[in-house]
Amino acid sequence: MRWLSVNFLLSALYMMSANLDSAVNGSVPEEHAKVLRDILSPAAKVYYPNSTEFNTLSARWSTLAEPNVNVVAVPSTEDDVAKIVQFAKKANLPILAFNGAHAAITTLGRMQGGIEIYMGQLSSVAIAQDDKTITVGGGTSSKAVTDALWNAGKQTVTGTCECVSVLGPALGGGHGWLQGHYGLVADQFVSMNVVLADGTLQTIDENSDLWWAMKGAGQNFGIVTSLTSKIYDIEQYDWAIETLIFDGDKVEAVYQAANDHLSPVPVNLINWSYWLNIPGADPDKPVVLFYIIQEGATTVNPAYTKPFHDIGPISIEAESGDYRDLARWTQVALDSTPCQKTGLANPRFPAYLKEYNIPAQKLAYDAFAAEVSGDSPFSTSIFMFEAYPVQGVQAIDSDSAAFAFRSDNILTAPLITYTPSSNELDQQAAELGNKLRNIVHKGSGSEELHAYVNYAFGDESPQNWYGYEQWRQDRLKALKKKYDPEGRFSFFAPVE
Ligand SMILES: Cc1cc2nc3c(=O)[nH]c(=O)nc-3n(C[C@H](O)[C@H](O)[C@H](O)COP(=O)(O)OP(=O)(O)OC[C@H]3O[C@@H](n4cnc5c(N)ncnc54)[C@H](O)[C@@H]3O)c2cc1C
Ligand SMILES: *[C@@H]1O[C@H](CO)[C@@H](O)[C@H](O)[C@H]1NC(C)=O
Ligand SMILES: *[C@@H]1O[C@H](CO)[C@@H](O)[C@H](O)[C@H]1NC(C)=O
Ligand SMILES: *[C@@H]1O[C@H](CO)[C@@H](O)[C@H](O)[C@H]1NC(C)=O
Repeated sequence: MRWLSVNFLLSALYMMSANLDSAVNGSVPEEHAKVLRDILSPAAKVYYPNSTEFNTLSARWSTLAEPNVNVVAVPSTEDDVAKIVQFAKKANLPILAFNGAHAAITTLGRMQGGIEIYMGQLSSVAIAQDDKTITVGGGTSSKAVTDALWNAGKQTVTGTCECVSVLGPALGGGHGWLQGHYGLVADQFVSMNVVLADGTLQTIDENSDLWWAMKGAGQNFGIVTSLTSKIYDIEQYDWAIETLIFDGDKVEAVYQAANDHLSPVPVNLINWSYWLNIPGADPDKPVVLFYIIQEGATTVNPAYTKPFHDIGPISIEAESGDYRDLARWTQVALDSTPCQKTGLANPRFPAYLKEYNIPAQKLAYDAFAAEVSGDSPFSTSIFMFEAYPVQGVQAIDSDSAAFAFRSDNILTAPLITYTPSSNELDQQAAELGNKLRNIVHKGSGSEELHAYVNYAFGDESPQNWYGYEQWRQDRLKALKKKYDPEGRFSFFAPVE
């Protein structure tokens, strides 16, 4: 009862003292921020722009077209998130959840002023008693889930990168090492708690009309404060990798081999490649870094690697370990370069492919090499080619989720990395990224550009992000109208 009355008092105070209508063009007057602090639970925090915490918690992975915030609110309970959303609604202030802060899509830059909801305190993992599901807080990192499950002899699909949150990738579909077995990260959803645009905290599952949308377009519909997902027994403890580095001249031979020799691709085999400058391997032009990863093995089966060895790599490195080593091997561990927030602009330009078009790979390589070599401002850029196994993804009915691109096999994206300095440079980066993307897309022979929303640059259309089928577009728009008519959750790849 005391709890009730204290809260009642506070909310009454908040209504009276805060002249909430006075919030002008997104800025958060100090007295509002104080009121906000008072309506949240004791362990919640509110930070102003002049504090170290504000700077740390609002730093983003890519500084291009960043959202600007005036205040950082750090909820410590799920209900705090609801309170913040209600407060912002009343004061007509923009809101945006920050989780791992790796989203680089330029639509986020439309947020100029408002409240960042930093999800970091909502980090928790609990494995259900029946060992069939895990419940995680809305701000939990992929690594926390992987490690907790591993210790219990369990696993599930998460993004590959240790510094990325569970929900960030998941709400846009979510690719991961284990998707060949179980499908996308979103395919694991069992139920979730989500704060909707009206400020209510609701538990939803497959019985909600919103369920479909949360699996691929979820960032548009609310803030997920906790998530229950399927988990599985670990069946294969061993993993092995071979990392091959090829001279750029070998690009055609490498992708010919990647296309050729495996059909269908085994569910326990993953290949990923990056084009990037490694001056120690080639001082003049980007190399092809090719990873072949095998589950359930301590060395990658030579039948898979021999065609690549025959091409004549500059170097071959073999390692073995377990699932937890994959992030380090592929340079997406917590201490790896891509996980650091160093003030760089990091736009990506994704396109899904069915298979590699060899002449297009060659054209793309030549264009990439010409633009990132020497003293180019883009010399640390990477062209990524991610070929995860797709059996688990394709086994699931395509209509079951807003994620629209289950029939694609390879996720490609140039990542144009640079130190931001001028609009001209931003413009050049966008032109380069789009030029490279267009080459591989044209090579696919497909009219439709399928762009993974979680890698998107921001200049794509809702068709590119959420599929060309009219029913998908109609369904997303209808749900948006029903659940978020004012577009409060429309900074990340808005459905319209
Ligand atoms: C190094 C690196 C590795 C990556 N690896 C993978 C990978 O293996 N697989 C993959 O699929 N993708 C991967 N990605 C892409 C990744 O899915 C996106 O960058 C994603 O947006 C990152 O999520 P985040 O929490 O770090 O970012 P954030 O910017 O914090 O969040 C992304 C968006 O989701 C919203 N959001 C975050 N949390 C919630 C929540 N709880 N409820 C509602 N909305 C929320 C945010 O408001 C924001 O709009 C990778 C990206 C990087 C930079
Ligand atoms: C709107 O915001 C801008 C940038 O934060 C600021 O310079 C300007 O004074 C604000 N306008 C009003 C009317 O407060
Ligand atoms: C930071 O800003 C707050 C609110 O505007 C103010 O009360 C505080 O004195 C400032 N602190 C510093 C160190 O400038
Ligand atoms: C690499 O992945 C692609 C796409 O899934 C596949 O076609 C190819 O056979 C794979 N090759 C190897 C060597 O794993």
